[in-house]
Amino acid sequence: MTVETCQHTGGQSCARCSWVRPRDAVLLVVRGRTARKSLPVAAVVGTVLSLVNQGSVIAGGAATLGTWVRVAVNYLVPLLVASIGYLSGRRVRAPALDWPRYLAGYHRDRPGITERLLTRAAAGRGTGPYPWLVEPLRDGPILDLACGSAPTRPLLRTARWIGIDASANELAVAAVAGRGPLVRGDAGALPVADGAIDSVCAAMCLQVLTPLDLVLAEVRRVLRPGGMVVALVPSRPGLDPLGILGWVRVMRALGIRSQPWPNPHARDGLARLLRSHGYVVDSDQRRVFHVEIADPAEAALLIDGLYLPGVDAGRVDQAKHVLASWARPGRRLPLPLRRVVARLPDR
Ligand SMILES: C[S@@+](CC[C@H](N)C(=O)[O-])C[C@H]1O[C@@H](n2cnc3c(N)ncnc32)[C@H](O)[C@@H]1O
Repeated sequence: MTVETCQHTGGQSCARCSWVRPRDAVLLVVRGRTARKSLPVAAVVGTVLSLVNQGSVIAGGAATLGTWVRVAVNYLVPLLVASIGYLSGRRVRAPALDWPRYLAGYHRDRPGITERLLTRAAAGRGTGPYPWLVEPLRDGPILDLACGSAPTRPLLRTARWIGIDASANELAVAAVAGRGPLVRGDAGALPVADGAIDSVCAAMCLQVLTPLDLVLAEVRRVLRPGGMVVALVPSRPGLDPLGILGWVRVMRALGIRSQPWPNPHARDGLARLLRSHGYVVDSDQRRVFHVEIADPAEAALLIDGLYLPGVDAGRVDQAKHVLASWARPGRRLPLPLRRVVARLPDR
């Protein structure tokens, strides 16, 4: 089956005229998309059929309720057939997402993006997310898991610290900034000896690393007994109506309802998850930071900082445009984050 090219995006996937899930198809019907195509078909076919099979009865003045029911059916059947035809020509298969590949490509193309976004975020007291994250950390050895451009390194200057990440481009950004030592490696097979690490710092990574159980088992393996995990993850939106409205504006422009985290349970459910892996949770805190969207460049940075698998480039540009036209000095979007501090038992 060929899918027609969308008149809005020029691609084959558009929330306004193509569908993946049945509820999207229902929305197309409710919005009158099918009616626009199927009503003219139903009008012509229904009229011809009614003239042929009921015309003489109606003209002779002998029409009964049964006659009008048959006339209605003459219109209804082509209406349904044309609507189904319209919808089946616009069904787009949900892309089977290869998440690790998407993640690798995202960080290859935008190294340092997480740091650039998060260092613009501030909370009421002025502390940014990274200074908050590293507060519980001491001398080390500290393993910065999926360290990216290594934003924690300058904050832990005197500690014994090592950063591990799978992305050569992320590590290159860290190296240019003079941060290290750095090792290119996989979080699911850490190139570190058993029990060699005092603390693992996991900034904005547990919600995206897969398979998470394997990663958490590796973290446990490299930690010494009594060792600590300090993790920062995105959190649920709060009850701030202006903030919710701001994000709704972004998500609507992108045509999505939320970001597609592969490990959604590693966000607000992280403390529970770590307990189930044998950790004792010292603290589980949520803090709302804000990112200022003062101008189009900051609007673009925010959109680029989101993982958007399956969202086409046209939609991303549209979202940047929408957010850029909202941008003003003082306009902010909330960035709720959660910090969990947990320890392994001593023995
Ligand atoms: C959201 S970024 C966080 C980076 C950094 N911790 C920060 O806060 O700026 C996620 C990081 O995970 C890294 N990553 C993705 N898959 C990985 C894997 N299997 N092993 C190690 N690092 C991985 C990416 O390259 C990226 O740097």
